[in-house]
Amino acid sequence: MEMRGLRDDVYRRPLATALDRLGIEPGWTCVDVGAGGGDVSVALAEIVGRDGRVYAVDSDPLARDEVAAAAAAHSQVIAITQAGEDLRLPEPVDLAFCRFLLLHVVEPSAVLARMAAAVRPGGWVVVQEPVTSAGRVGGVPLSMPGAVHPDIGAVLPALVRDAGLVVVDAWAESQAGAGGGPVAEYLAFLTGVDPGDDPVVLPPLVTVVAQAPVV
Ligand SMILES: C[S@@+](CC[C@H](N)C(=O)[O-])C[C@H]1O[C@@H](n2cnc3c(N)ncnc32)[C@H](O)[C@@H]1O
Repeated sequence: MEMRGLRDDVYRRPLATALDRLGIEPGWTCVDVGAGGGDVSVALAEIVGRDGRVYAVDSDPLARDEVAAAAAAHSQVIAITQAGEDLRLPEPVDLAFCRFLLLHVVEPSAVLARMAAAVRPGGWVVVQEPVTSAGRVGGVPLSMPGAVHPDIGAVLPALVRDAGLVVVDAWAESQAGAGGGPVAEYLAFLTGVDPGDDPVVLPPLVTVVAQAPVV
């Protein structure tokens, strides 16, 4: 299995739980910030349908080509090259989403402020970021030295609240396993280390579901 798809498989449950929690519907307008290859953008496009729109925003121009390829069958996906810190869309959206983005960003609060400003009054912001060191291989904590804020998930509800949003729900979840299979394969992809038979707990993903105040 190709690894980007694999991550979607092992982190599919937190995404599905979050989207269920906020009651996303056909016709919604969304932005996926730090969209990468566009897996979440495509998942959102399938839900919002042809009457909806998904802006797939990434600072890396290469992501735009990847999103375009992934979303070829979804004309409602609009790929934009833009930094999350400069997020500006042609219209207010119903949902601003990011996943595995803020851990790589120097100033996460600047991105959250732009996401909060991008949604309509009463609109939704959903953020999913890991607590990397809470992952375990053979009982030993993981580390991710390449990330600017590897444990940002641990403070995510407060960051979202401080962006002026109302936190409606927040939780952490991940998958665990032992021996071969998707969990071990994903860990090997993430760290370059094959865990072999060691037990693995993937980094828990903290999800925060929040709403923009109605003024
Ligand atoms: C680990 S990938 C996550 C991709 C996708 N969100 C997912 O969950 O599969 C992080 C993405 O964020 C993008 N990125 C990093 N810093 C960014 C920024 N300041 N603004 C927008 N995108 C950024 C990177 O180019 C990369 O595509």
